[in-house]
Amino acid sequence: MAGCGSLVFFLTVCVASLFGANAESKFTIPVGSFFTYELMRETFQNDFEPLSKLYPGLWHDDPMIFKCNKQNFPDLPEWLRFTQRHPFDNGFLYGTPTSPGKSIIEIYAINKRTYDTARHLLVIKVVAEKILPYQAEVFIKLREIEKVLPSTVQTEIKRDLQKLWDTEALEIVNITNALDRGGRVPLPIAGHFEGVYVKVGSEQNFSSCLLKVLTPEHQRQCAAGAKDKGPEGCNFCKIPSNCITWCKTELFDLTKQEPEPPAPTMGSGILEPGDDYNPVESPPNRDYFPDYIVTVIVPLILAIILCLLLAYIMFGRREGVEKRNARTNQIQLYHHHTIHGNTDELRNMAGNRGVPAPLSTLPMFNSRTGERSSPLQSDSPSIPLILAQHDPYSDTLPR
Ligand SMILES: *[C@@H]1O[C@H](CO)[C@@H](O)[C@H](O)[C@H]1NC(C)=O
Repeated sequence: MAGCGSLVFFLTVCVASLFGANAESKFTIPVGSFFTYELMRETFQNDFEPLSKLYPGLWHDDPMIFKCNKQNFPDLPEWLRFTQRHPFDNGFLYGTPTSPGKSIIEIYAINKRTYDTARHLLVIKVVAEKILPYQAEVFIKLREIEKVLPSTVQTEIKRDLQKLWDTEALEIVNITNALDRGGRVPLPIAGHFEGVYVKVGSEQNFSSCLLKVLTPEHQRQCAAGAKDKGPEGCNFCKIPSNCITWCKTELFDLTKQEPEPPAPTMGSGILEPGDDYNPVESPPNRDYFPDYIVTVIVPLILAIILCLLLAYIMFGRREGVEKRNARTNQIQLYHHHTIHGNTDELRNMAGNRGVPAPLSTLPMFNSRTGERSSPLQSDSPSIPLILAQHDPYSDTLPR
């Protein structure tokens, strides 16, 4: 029984890893239409834990991040962008291809809990298609790119714009984060959003509502910063967060565009035989003398004049230099004199010290009797060093 269970376990792991490793999705989209692909965390979670379907107790909701690139290239194709707000949110690949071709996109999901990785492939085949001739771009202020990319929201926005355009034949051409267009990061407060630009296209000409954007009256109101209500009877947004900013609405009429000038025809890169190569004539000689005068001589003259002026101020214009020098000498002499005088004075004072030195500093001073002997005497060897017979406290006093 246990062996059978482990066999089932082993088989499911094998099958799951077989399918997980080769997960591949294919899309065929026309040029100039908007493409969105949601990277579902749930799908990748099943890759990380293939058994959690059989044993729901094993199911985790792991944070994960995604790395996307074109196969064998470090980055995504130019037209494709990736966004994921938070490791607990789904990621989105979105963009509008501009030229036909095939791109293989590698998606690596990294589980931030276990650090497992899973790889999916996305094959996008872009086929040529006529570009929609009438396009309009609206700005939705109260939205963020991740909130707009889910297909339900795209449909809501498209429905509002279909009413505005007065046609069903409408396609979303592009959705852009306002931050990618020079928008500012909003304050992290409720009610502040990054904003998104939504571009739609149609075969049908613009409706009268849309054409009101081009009227001078509307433009004057916008320039004056009047409250952005939009033309009357033209506000079709059901959900307030999907309402457009009228003053940022732009219309593009691609039918009126002049045809592009034909591309320059490439030559073979080899000169026609016969003609000799004629080098271009060298340009006429230029006279550099005025430049020399202006850049070298004039500053030099100015520098010399400044030098002379400075020299004159420093040496010529100094008032009473001699007098001041004399006075300085006098002061120095006086100082010298006083120093000499003070020294002499100190010497004199030291020479005639009349006051006797304090008794305690003298040698052979008897503190009781006050008797003292002269230092000269004490130095003489005839005086006994210990005067025992004169000691009054001595027991052996002579009678
Ligand atoms: C879509 O918008 C992005 C960002 O503004 C821009 O780079 C890209 O060229 C647009 N694509 C089309 C087809 O207009």
